[in-house]
Amino acid sequence: MTNEELMEKAIGAKEFSHSPYSNFRVGAALLTKSGKAYTGCNVECASYGGTNCAERTAIFKAVSEGHKDIEKIAITSDLDDYTFPCGICRQVIVEFGLDIEIILSNKDGKIKTFSMGELLPHSFTEKDLKK
Ligand code: THU
Repeated sequence: MTNEELMEKAIGAKEFSHSPYSNFRVGAALLTKSGKAYTGCNVECASYGGTNCAERTAIFKAVSEGHKDIEKIAITSDLDDYTFPCGICRQVIVEFGLDIEIILSNKDGKIKTFSMGELLPHSFTEKDLKK
């Protein structure tokens, strides 16, 4: 699946965003190395801390169905500019691979890609827990 096709899935997932508090809709779509796609949207909660970001929704859907082999993740919102994953999502993404590609698009549909090494350098991962 191309980056553009994955982004189309993220744009579609944004329509399901439950964001009555921020009115900030986010959609995400990931592709596994085995070719399966999972989508996610942000899901907000009146007790704000219960909110889950779109990227993590997609990741948790994939992992809970046995797919941890994530290749790339597309993320979009209604912003004119690119929407980068928040810090919590960056940490969760590197949990499943430092080589995962992040695909972002702006309002003109122009796509930019980043590596997780760029977005979360010097990350704390499983290796750091080894004594
Ligand atoms: N949000 C995401 O879904 N992903 C991000 O990486 C940034 C933030 C959501 C969470 C909340 O529902 C809204 O955007 C405003 O922070």
